[in-house]
This record gives sequence, C-alpha cells and structure tokens, in this order.
Amino acid sequence: MARGRKLIAGNWKMNGLRADGAALAEAIGARAKAGSARCDLLVCPPATIVDVVGKALAGSVVALGGQDCAPAEKGAFTGDISAEMLKDAGCAYVILGHSERRHGHGESDAQVRAKVAAAWRAGLVAILCVGETRAEREAGREVAVVSGQLSGAIPGGVAANKLVIAYEPVWAIGTGLTPTLADITTVHAVIRDNIPAGTRILYGGSVNPANAREILSLAEVDGALVGGASLKADDFWAIAEACP
Ligand code: 13P
Repeated sequence: MARGRKLIAGNWKMNGLRADGAALAEAIGARAKAGSARCDLLVCPPATIVDVVGKALAGSVVALGGQDCAPAEKGAFTGDISAEMLKDAGCAYVILGHSERRHGHGESDAQVRAKVAAAWRAGLVAILCVGETRAEREAGREVAVVSGQLSGAIPGGVAANKLVIAYEPVWAIGTGLTPTLADITTVHAVIRDNIPAGTRILYGGSVNPANAREILSLAEVDGALVGGASLKADDFWAIAEACP
C-alpha cells in the first residue's frame, strides 16, 4: 500500500551542551533548507537545550520534540517536566516509553499510558516506543510483547494524527544489530493491525547511513527513530536522503 511522507527523527538522548546542540541543529537546519527533504524531519534534544535548538532551527522545516514528559500538568514533582512545558518550549512531539526509560527507570505500560494522555492534553504528538528484549526475541515472544505494550500504553481517544509508534527492539539499540527486513515487516504489520489507519510506524535501533536505504524502502516502515547517528549532521542527513 502506498503511504505518505516518511518521518526521520533524531533522539539525541543525554547528549549535547548548548554550543554543541546549536551547532548540530544549525547544520541539520542548513541542509534541510538547501536540499528539499523528501521526508519530515524531527530532532529531540535534551530538555535543557530544547530552547536553544529551537532557536537554531527557526525558519527551517525541522520539528522539535522532547524525550519524556510527566503525566501531570504542573505541581510538586521535583525534576519532572510536563508536556505543557515542552509545548511551551516549542516542541510538537515527545518520545514516550523509550526502552531506556522502561528498563532504566522501571516505567510500566500504565505510566507510559498516562504520559501519552498528557502529551495529547498538551497538543503534542506522542512517539510511543515499543520493542522486545533479546530474551523475549529468543523465546519467540516479540509479537506478544509488542502487542501487550500497545494495548497497555495507548489511551482511549487515539487518532493517527496524535500518535507515532516506534518499533525499537531493545537488543538493536546502540548495538549495531538490526532485525532482518522480514522481521521488521512482520512486527510492523502486527502493530498496524492494532492502531488507527494512517498512524506512522517508525523503525529504531542501529539505523545508520549504510542500512537506512533498505530499511526505509520497506512499505511497512514510515520512517526511523535514530539515536547515535542523529548526533552527526552528515549521518542524520544521509539517513533522511535514503528515504525513497
Ligand atoms: P541507536 O540508533 O543509537 O541504536 O538508538 C536507537 C534509539 O534508541 C532511538 O530512540
């Protein structure tokens, strides 16, 4: 089935001080202005530099996103950042349920669900990450795990323009390993059966300039969520250019 424009999203994780972030954003923004990107572009910097990155991207087509948000709008939640604060800082998207938060911070599907609801309340598009661990993959449980994460973390009232799913197998993140193209297609097709028609499904996990073209050529793949390679403007741009 023919689909719309792909989305190439950079998850900068906990990388970047003000100067580095501004330089990276300017380099990406300049490429996006000079070439006509065939895809939609998004960068998700650390919260401390969302503002500076937003200013560096001003006037470009590159959108801005956060990497997490709290369920509540405001109040006594030391260290947390609300979806409304991200929106106020210029974000249009927020990554939620990343495996580094599920596994590193013990976030449950119920907590992720509350965060997705918060993103929608603030008018942000939620990028909901799902994916199995290596042990779950070896046990042949990837479809069950991903289906459970979708049903557990997507609130009522879902619509395609409020949600992006990122399929990120935990064992593929930062390892240089990727599933086979057939395995990506299989899991994306299962995800597609569980979400509203037209919802984008990104693949994430060791996407780089060398493997982007074959992954992004899959009809089931609506874009990529890129970690390490999004920290170099040339590599991020090469991945964007690999969109068919
Ligand atoms: P890498 O691209 O570094 O494997 O990270 C993927 C990721 O976690 C994006 O959210």
